[in-house]
Amino acid sequence: MNIILLGPPGAGKGTQARHLVDGRGMTQLSTGDMLREAKDSGTEMGQVVADVMAKGELVTDEIVIGLIREKLQGEKTAGFIFDGFPRTLAQADALGALLAEQGESLDAVIEMRVDDEALVERITARSTCGNCGEVYNDKTKPIPADGVCSNCGEKAEFKRRADDNAESLKQRLMEYYKKTSPLLGYYYAKGQLERVDGLGDISEVQSAIAGVLDATAS
Ligand code: AP5
Ligand code: MG
Repeated sequence: MNIILLGPPGAGKGTQARHLVDGRGMTQLSTGDMLREAKDSGTEMGQVVADVMAKGELVTDEIVIGLIREKLQGEKTAGFIFDGFPRTLAQADALGALLAEQGESLDAVIEMRVDDEALVERITARSTCGNCGEVYNDKTKPIPADGVCSNCGEKAEFKRRADDNAESLKQRLMEYYKKTSPLLGYYYAKGQLERVDGLGDISEVQSAIAGVLDATAS
């Protein structure tokens, strides 16, 4: 089963994708994580995208489509979770074509709905385990007092993202509404759009997504 988690910055895409990886053996394809990895490892592409990402703008379609193309050619698993991709209509068309080339298709697009006020609160309180990428939140999922990540069991450095500040977040939201929200109509017209309330707590959202996936599979 191949699915897209679609939603604005802070909607909980990464958090829920990790649950699906653990629970269903699916593979998370987060273009944001891939770009941050490229940035941290200092590749030429990483240097090109660093500034764009820090400002909260979108990197070019060509770069992200290239990243996804490479991953889709890898080993087959229980399915892909596209997290933060596609983000433009051109990326959505490209994804359809790439999946078809592999003899695959898209099973569901899940919109995670969260109001803007909650997004700002979530993003400004977020941190991530530098070792395994587990996502924490100062209010809803605090870093353990002993500094040991509850997921990987390592005493890790917990990082804040360079684009998790008020200025960049404003731009990221703008990009979402201008360039990504048209995908809701695109997938609705294809009969693939499902919606979940992303405002509940993490386990409630997890159950709602499981409900959509189970209904799609049956
Ligand atoms: P990306 O990394 O994809 O960031 P984003 O879309 O802005 O989304 P986030 O990762 O910030 O939020 P999330 O929905 O994953 O939420 P999370 O689970 O962490 O992209 C970053 C940048 O890369 C872009 O701005 C762009 O420059 C570039 N880029 C990436 N893909 C691209 C593409 N396809 N095309 C062009 N450019 C691209 O949760 C957030 C916080 O909330 C956490 O603290 C979490 O613990 C908490 N939380 C989660 N769920 C809940 C809940 N239910 N209740 C309470 N708290 C919760
Ligand atoms: Mg994310």
